[in-house]
Amino acid sequence: MKFDIFTLFPQIFDGVFEHSIIKRARDAGLIDIALHHIRNHARDKHKMTDDAPYGGGGGMVMKPDPIFYAVESALDYEVPASGYTVNPEAGHPPIILLSPQGRVFTQAVAQELSQYPRLMFICGRYEGVDERVAQYLATDQISIGDYVLSGGEIAAMVIVDAVTRLLPNALGDPNAAANDSHATGLLEYPHYTRPAEFKGHRVPDILLSGDHAKVSRWRREQSLKRTLAARPDLLENAPLTEEEKKAIQRLIM
Ligand code: ADE
Repeated sequence: MKFDIFTLFPQIFDGVFEHSIIKRARDAGLIDIALHHIRNHARDKHKMTDDAPYGGGGGMVMKPDPIFYAVESALDYEVPASGYTVNPEAGHPPIILLSPQGRVFTQAVAQELSQYPRLMFICGRYEGVDERVAQYLATDQISIGDYVLSGGEIAAMVIVDAVTRLLPNALGDPNAAANDSHATGLLEYPHYTRPAEFKGHRVPDILLSGDHAKVSRWRREQSLKRTLAARPDLLENAPLTEEEKKAIQRLIM
């Protein structure tokens, strides 16, 4: 998977992609991350990347031209006036504009994105990005949650991380991603490791019992209880057995 990130602040990414799973995935050649400095693609002598909004009002708006030129340079393709369209076979990947106005990022969206061989991310800054970027260049807009960040950089990091975990061979344990919170539609069950007792708090006996069927049942039950307590909204779409649905009804009463 290749990730292209377009930003005015490539230094923000220093270090973030140089540890743990992302680093291993890069070293193994599973992913390739290219940072593109939008400013390098401004063609005026002052290398301007933002300007005052037409119609007045405060703040600055990111200019469309350096962003288009940066993406065109990475694609080696000139976007037609009618706009850009995704065509992975022709080497035209999805172009995602990070924005609080986008669709909300979820595990299902991470799954969807992980199917592409290449993804591009445009990190917005300032008050916003010229609307022509959203209309004629970006093919998707994604928000990582209902809050406003200072820019799309952290959102891009979040998405690259979540998508990389889903790629075959990115995790040491090939089944790890399948049991993650949200991957099953539920929150994950609690984990424990040694010592069996710490400050008087014992690990649940069932986990020490060696009875795998019982452990599985307990974990599933814990997932359901946690989801009900912290994220009851997830239960509406989670794949539950009839028995589990009844058990939840009993817990709610
Ligand atoms: N840029 C600013 N806020 C954002 C958010 N919540 N998600 C993605 N990009 C953003």
